[in-house]
Amino acid sequence: MSKPLATIAGVLVIAGMLGGVASGAPATGGRSSAGMAALPDPQPSPLATSLGIEFVKDSTTTVLLERDGKRYVVDLAARTVREAQPLAAAHASSAAAGPAAAADRKDPPDGAGIFKSNCTMCHGPDGKGIAAMKTPDFTDPKVQASLTDQQMIDIITNGKKGTAMPSWRDKLSEQDIRAVQAYVRSLGAAKPPQASALVPSHESAKSKIYQPGDDRLFTLPTGRRLDRHGMYVNFTHRFAYDPAFSGTARGGALLGLDGVSISSFGLAYGVTDKLSVSIYRAPTLIGRPIEMMAAYNLLDEHDGKPLNAAIRVSLDGLNDFDRMFSENIEGVFSKSINLHPVKAQLYFVPTVSFNDRRLFSPPSYETSSFPSLPGYNAVSLGIGGAIDIRPTAALIAEVIPTVYNGRPLGIHRPAYAFGIQKKIWRHAFTFGFSNSPGTTVSQRAGTDASYLGAPSADTPSGLFIGFDLTRQVH
Ligand code: HEC
Repeated sequence: MSKPLATIAGVLVIAGMLGGVASGAPATGGRSSAGMAALPDPQPSPLATSLGIEFVKDSTTTVLLERDGKRYVVDLAARTVREAQPLAAAHASSAAAGPAAAADRKDPPDGAGIFKSNCTMCHGPDGKGIAAMKTPDFTDPKVQASLTDQQMIDIITNGKKGTAMPSWRDKLSEQDIRAVQAYVRSLGAAKPPQASALVPSHESAKSKIYQPGDDRLFTLPTGRRLDRHGMYVNFTHRFAYDPAFSGTARGGALLGLDGVSISSFGLAYGVTDKLSVSIYRAPTLIGRPIEMMAAYNLLDEHDGKPLNAAIRVSLDGLNDFDRMFSENIEGVFSKSINLHPVKAQLYFVPTVSFNDRRLFSPPSYETSSFPSLPGYNAVSLGIGGAIDIRPTAALIAEVIPTVYNGRPLGIHRPAYAFGIQKKIWRHAFTFGFSNSPGTTVSQRAGTDASYLGAPSADTPSGLFIGFDLTRQVH
C-alpha cells in the first residue's frame, strides 16, 4: 500500500511547516510515548484545514494529509508516506468529522465506537454486512465460526488482498484493533433484545435447563445457585389467620389479604459461585425465629451435570436467636424436564431438623413470654414441581410430609402449597395458597393445625393466602 509521494508538492509544504519541530526533535523519538502527555491537543487551524493537513493527537512525528479525496499518513521519523484509507472510507469518515477516529476517542478503547466510526460504511451499522460491498454478516454464527480471533486481528491489521477490506495498521493502534475485533466477535453473541430483557440470563443460552425465579418454590428451597458476590433479598408473607375460602364474606376481606400477615425478611449472599450464606427472620407472631444458613451447590445442570444438588445447613433460634434452637440439614435435589415446548423442574428436599419445636401462636405482637417447648428430631421429605406456562410465568406446587416425629410436633397432615410465579430479570413474585404459616427450615413442615390449635385448620377449606418476593439487588 505504501506509496512514495515525494513528488507531491503538499508533502513539501508539510515538511516545511513542520521543519522546525522535526529538526528540533530529530527522528530519534519515533512514536515512543515519552513526553507525549505534554503535547497540546491538535487544534485545526484554518490554514492547515485548507491545506488538507491534520495533526495526530499525541504524535510528534505523524500528520495526516488529504489530497484528491485520498488520505495519507506522513511519518516524518520514518520518512514514509502511506495511503491511510481507501476512498470510500475516507468519504464516510470525512475530513469534516475532524481528527481521525483513533485520535478522537477516549480511553479505554471503545470497540463499538471504533466500529461505528471506521467500519460501518462497509460492514453496515449493525455489522450485518452490505450486499453491494460484499461484506459478510458478522451476526451469522457460521461467519463467526470461520475465523479465529487471531485471524480477525490479522485481517483488520493487514487488510485482505484483492478485496476492499483495507489495512488499519496505520489508522488504529494495536489496542484499538483488539477492541474492535472483540466487538466484531461480540456481534455473534447478540440475542434478540426482548429475550435477554425478560428471561433470567442463563435461560436463553442453556435452553433445556429450567431457571427457578426464586430461592423458594413457595416455601421449599429450589437450591438455585446464587451469583458469586450477588446479593439477594427475600420476603415472605403468610396470611395464616384468615382462611381464603371458608367463613363469611371472604370476597369482602380479599380472601384474607385484609388480615394479619406473618411477614418475614431475609438476605442471601453468594460468597463464591457455589457457596452462599443467608440470614432470615420471621416475626413475633411465629416465635420470632432468626435463621442463619450456609448452602453449597455440589452439582449444577448448567455445568452439564444430570441434576442439581445442594446441601444446606442452618441454625434457627426463637426469640431473636435467643433460645429453643433447631439445627437443620437439607439436601436439595432438582432436575429439569423438557416437556417441549414447556420447561419444568422437579424438586426433592429431604430434611432433618434436630430439636424441632411445634408451632405456636403467641398471645400478642410484642410478647416475649413464649412457652418452653420440648425439642424433637424430625425428618421431612419435601417434594415439589414448577412448570413454565409462559416464558416468564410458572405454576408451582409443593408438599412437605413429616415422615418422622410429626405427631409430637402437632403435624397431622402434610404442609402443602401451590401458586403462580411471575419471574422477571433478577426478580420474582409468587402468589399462592398454603396450610403452613412457617417459612424457616424447622417451621415450614408445621401447619395451621398446631399453630392455631385447631386440628381441622389444615384441611383444604383452611387454606390461606401467601406471597413471596425476591430480588437480586446486586
Ligand atoms: C472500504 C470498506 C471496508 C471498510 C472500511 C472495512 N471493511 Fe472489513 N471488509 C470489507 C470487505 C469488502 C470484506 C470482505 C472481504 C472478503 O471478500 O472476504 C471485509 C472483511 C472483513 C473481515 C473478515 C471477514 C471474513 O469473513 O473474512 C473482518 C474481520 C473485517 N472486515 C473487519 C473490519 C473492521 C473491524 C473494520 C473497521 C476497523 C473494517 N472491516 C472496515 C470492507 C471493509
